[in-house]
Amino acid sequence: MFFKALILLNIVANFQVNGYSLGNYARVVGRETVSNTSYDFIIAGGGIAGLTLADRLTENPNTSVLVVEYGPFDQGEATVLIPGAYNPFPYLWQNIFSTPQAGLNNATFFAPMGAVVGGGSAVNAMFFIRCAKDDCDSWESLGGTGWGWDDLLPYYKKSENFTRPGPAAARDYNISWTDAVHGFGGPVQASYPPFNYAGDKNFWDAATAVGIEAPKDPNDGSAIGLFSLLKALDPRNETRSYARIAHYDMVIGSRPNYHLLAENVVSKVLFKEKKAIGIEYMSRSTGAISNVTANKEVIIAAGAVHAPQILHLSGIGPKAYLQGLGINTIVDLPGVGQNLQDHMTLDINYSFQSNIEPNAGTLLSNTTYDAEQLALYESSRQGAYTLTRQTAQNFIQLALGNATSKYASIASLAQSENPASFLPANTDPTVLAGYVAQRKILAQKYTSFGAPVGSISWNTGPDTTIYMVKPFSRGSITLNTTDPLANPLIDFGSLKDPVDLEVVLALVRKNRELMATPPMQVLGPTELSPGANLTTDAQLKTALRGLINPSNAHMCCTAAMMDRELGGVVDEEMKVYGVTGLRVAGVSVFSLIPGSAPQATVYGMAEKLADTIKKQYGIAVSNP
Ligand SMILES: Cc1cc2nc3c(=O)[nH]c(=O)nc-3n(C[C@H](O)[C@H](O)[C@H](O)COP(=O)(O)OP(=O)(O)OC[C@H]3O[C@@H](n4cnc5c(N)ncnc54)[C@H](O)[C@@H]3O)c2cc1C
Ligand SMILES: *[C@@H]1O[C@H](CO)[C@@H](O)[C@H](O)[C@H]1NC(C)=O
Ligand SMILES: *[C@@H]1O[C@H](CO)[C@@H](O)[C@H](O)[C@H]1NC(C)=O
Ligand SMILES: *[C@@H]1O[C@H](CO)[C@@H](O)[C@H](O)[C@H]1NC(C)=O
Ligand SMILES: *[C@@H]1O[C@H](CO)[C@@H](O)[C@H](O)[C@H]1NC(C)=O
Ligand SMILES: *[C@@H]1O[C@H](CO)[C@@H](O)[C@H](O)[C@H]1NC(C)=O
Ligand SMILES: *[C@@H]1O[C@H](CO)[C@@H](O)[C@H](O)[C@H]1NC(C)=O
Ligand SMILES: *[C@@H]1O[C@H](CO)[C@@H](O)[C@H](O)[C@H]1NC(C)=O
Ligand SMILES: *[C@@H]1O[C@H](CO)[C@@H](O)[C@H](O)[C@H]1NC(C)=O
Ligand SMILES: *[C@@H]1O[C@H](CO)[C@@H](O)[C@H](O)[C@H]1NC(C)=O
Ligand SMILES: *[C@@H]1O[C@H](CO)[C@@H](O)[C@H](O)[C@H]1NC(C)=O
Ligand SMILES: *[C@@H]1O[C@H](CO)[C@@H](O)[C@H](O)[C@H]1NC(C)=O
Ligand SMILES: *[C@@H]1O[C@H](CO)[C@@H](O)[C@H](O)[C@H]1NC(C)=O
Repeated sequence: MFFKALILLNIVANFQVNGYSLGNYARVVGRETVSNTSYDFIIAGGGIAGLTLADRLTENPNTSVLVVEYGPFDQGEATVLIPGAYNPFPYLWQNIFSTPQAGLNNATFFAPMGAVVGGGSAVNAMFFIRCAKDDCDSWESLGGTGWGWDDLLPYYKKSENFTRPGPAAARDYNISWTDAVHGFGGPVQASYPPFNYAGDKNFWDAATAVGIEAPKDPNDGSAIGLFSLLKALDPRNETRSYARIAHYDMVIGSRPNYHLLAENVVSKVLFKEKKAIGIEYMSRSTGAISNVTANKEVIIAAGAVHAPQILHLSGIGPKAYLQGLGINTIVDLPGVGQNLQDHMTLDINYSFQSNIEPNAGTLLSNTTYDAEQLALYESSRQGAYTLTRQTAQNFIQLALGNATSKYASIASLAQSENPASFLPANTDPTVLAGYVAQRKILAQKYTSFGAPVGSISWNTGPDTTIYMVKPFSRGSITLNTTDPLANPLIDFGSLKDPVDLEVVLALVRKNRELMATPPMQVLGPTELSPGANLTTDAQLKTALRGLINPSNAHMCCTAAMMDRELGGVVDEEMKVYGVTGLRVAGVSVFSLIPGSAPQATVYGMAEKLADTIKKQYGIAVSNP
């Protein structure tokens, strides 16, 4: 998704749309205020989890919260708010790349992450899809007791305000849903864009022609099949709904107890013996370093790349490794920064003899159409600009058995391998034990039809994207230097385990099957990349190693909620093992990556964590 958006940079960079001022910065505080205040809770990172927690904890006027966020506030740009003008680049972390990826011809890759108030929710493609029941339930068996589907459902509902599609859109675009699984009073606006391209019907018919079924509602825990993607989109004006609006702008006016310090980096957690008592933070503009005290807790909500960086800098991680960097160890916790997972993506390019116009490619190829659609959006909030740029509505998530008849042999191949051979030789035994436990669960998922292993979406124009969402390979986050402003080393570890390549290959073949059905063949597609002339498995695999992208910006799992004996970093209340007063929240505490895009789950989990914390401290809620 993101990489397509990058192509658009030149087109949308100078966009100016009037009337999108959002400024209510009443509680943006400066460093002076912060230095002279102590807070009940200090949250490192103002992304999805951080802002959700800050909002819920400050519902009680007696509870004070400081959020320290690396990025700035967005200025209500069209690229942030208008789906059709989507361009995440200006608010992504800049110049941050992976290490050379041995499984991908030693290439390095840009690592996309939000660096802005709202975090990923301000820059993401707005896809709003929950985990499969089977995926959430797996977390429980690894030590995340209380975070299964049944526990999360009430919090998924609490987090959202679902708006049903109008009858015409529901009929014209085959949208179905189940009211009972949705929330109708939550802060995040969830809706379907009121537009789709005609060609998406061909894709729908192709999917049904190869036997892919359409669930009534993928957000009911099923998460498999062919469906219209729900979006984090406010249907009142078809603009992005994100954590900055939902959990900050909407409440800040009445919350003198909610402070947010932007453009500052949390450099470490401060301890008194084994109790977290505050943080050290640094101004990005002046480099000035200060401390601030937390009376109750510090919560690290800095995303999957930076949460382990902060932990390492604070002395929480593998002891020998920290010693080597000259960092004093607070807790020897080998799992910190291990277990990195993401969804890999692969772009399939086509040329068409007779594709239906307009399609998602027309916005780029025909400036008249683009201008016409923008004007339509501005006047009536209709048309192509209500869809995330370069996407259509239909989306397919597949269990492995729905993608290939070889699913059982792929699972057997995985079971025959030696897990230790895919981790570095010096891996701690607890981390290896966790990996072994995860691989057992993954092998079951590969044969059980319960959770997505791959996804396919055609954008109705020249691109199909294939997503590999259940990797066996693992990566890691480690420090490069102890400078808190330096990038950590990101090793995605992609395709270390050759099983993952077998899965991508199966998805490529499934996609070719889709494209070979009559509803797609009438459009006259030719596969340009990887290329129709690549037919053998060996040819395709060689090509795929040069084409796969290791990240769909869904990095996770680097401070996993697992048993400590399994290399876990936090317990089932997201408390960091071995210390008090410190938790981790957000996508980094997932243990296994769910097969769906993560944001809806991060919102739901943060809602549940807020209640857990309130309960512990007896914090009453004044305006539930
Ligand atoms: C380009 C892009 C497209 C995506 N598309 C989708 C999608 O369509 N659907 C979906 O479900 N998910 C999508 N995602 C993923 C999703 O947005 C993330 O998984 C989610 O935001 C993670 O939530 P979080 O709260 O854990 O972390 P984040 O939302 O990433 O928040 C972490 C915050 O911490 C800040 N931070 C980091 N280090 C420090 C520090 N040391 N001090 C202070 N602050 C710090 C960061 O700047 C950031 O604001 C996308 C992500 C990106 C980047
Ligand atoms: C869209 O509408 C909502 C609800 O009225 C409002 O909170 C938000 O600020 C609006 N967004 C824009 C960009 O106008
Ligand atoms: C904190 O408050 C004191 C007293 O009001 C003031 O003198 C001092 O400058 C403040 N500290 C900072 C860092 O602003
Ligand atoms: C806040 O604290 C005051 C003083 O202790 C108390 O009277 C009040 O009930 C508290 N309010 C809430 C909502 O807990
Ligand atoms: C990748 O780099 C390693 C180490 O430098 C080298 O041994 C290997 O041959 C390289 N692989 C490719 C595909 O270039
Ligand atoms: C939920 O969305 C509807 C529009 O579909 C709106 O009327 C209502 O105010 C929203 N509720 C909240 C709590 O945002
Ligand atoms: C809707 O679903 C029906 C039944 O599968 C199919 O015939 C039709 O083409 C679909 N329409 C669209 C727009 O996807
Ligand atoms: C996947 O395959 C199973 C077993 O054949 C079948 O029951 C199910 O309907 C299929 N799901 C989809 C989405 O095609
Ligand atoms: C912050 O606290 C640490 C640990 O107590 C101390 O070493 C450091 O000097 C403090 N920094 C500032 C700027 O006060
Ligand atoms: C696919 O097409 C896009 C333009 O639509 C182009 O930028 C990209 O390089 C192509 N990728 C491949 C692998 O051909
Ligand atoms: C470009 O879009 C305009 C407006 O929709 C349409 O009239 C025109 O035919 C399109 N041009 C081409 C070459 O498709
Ligand atoms: C790691 O640090 C070294 C030395 O400062 C620097 O040259 C290198 O570019 C850094 N690597 C990454 C991936 O940032
Ligand atoms: C496939 O076609 C491409 C583009 O024409 C060419 O570069 C490549 O060598 C061909 N590969 C094979 C295996 O024929």
